[in-house]
Amino acid sequence: GRRESLRTRLLEWYDRQKRDLPWRRTRDPYAIWLSEVMLQQTQVATVIPYWERFLQRFPTVEALAAAPLPDVLALWRGLGYYSRARNLHGAAQEVVARFGGKLPSTAAELLTLPGFGRYTAGAVASIAFGEPAPLVDGNVARVLSRIFEVEGAPGDRAREARLWALATELVHGERPGDFNQALMEHGATVCRPESPLCLLCPVREECLAYRHGRVDELPPARVR
Ligand code: ADE
Repeated sequence: GRRESLRTRLLEWYDRQKRDLPWRRTRDPYAIWLSEVMLQQTQVATVIPYWERFLQRFPTVEALAAAPLPDVLALWRGLGYYSRARNLHGAAQEVVARFGGKLPSTAAELLTLPGFGRYTAGAVASIAFGEPAPLVDGNVARVLSRIFEVEGAPGDRAREARLWALATELVHGERPGDFNQALMEHGATVCRPESPLCLLCPVREECLAYRHGRVDELPPARVR
């Protein structure tokens, strides 16, 4: 059906076009977690050197948990949103205390740790552990709102619920972590906010906004 062809095309496109990013070369859940926390409010190009320095200095959850908070914050300097670093440090201490230093492998358990919201829990569970857990970030929201012609502006409750429901349906299948990253990658490089590259889009034929000439209207600007 339409859903299956959407999944397959996005995954095949991702296999051909994905950027070679350092956290895509590791299977260490801690390193993947760190990348997702850094990427939440910061651009890829900025994150790369911070991610590498951080892992050099704190190579394991145990090393991070044992570090004094000011040392962690010092390594974070320049990335901003310091609550991310405080939560990361607190979560590392909980992982040591409650889970023997091993990050739990399900989104449900990850959600009990400081700093984990639906997005981070879904990202780590799917990418590091292969759980078919959904995620919706700004890129995914834009991609899905165009493909499925989901109305409503960012922040609209009914829209968010619909997007999470779609992401949940779509992630069930092969390679959930790669599928989630394919959605994000597609939003970052092809299905961009301005001047989307529809002529290069692997799922143009499945895209309702493209079919109806509404790609530039979706999603509408945030109401405020
Ligand atoms: N943005 C945040 N995490 C990402 C990932 N794993 N791949 C692509 N874009 C992302």
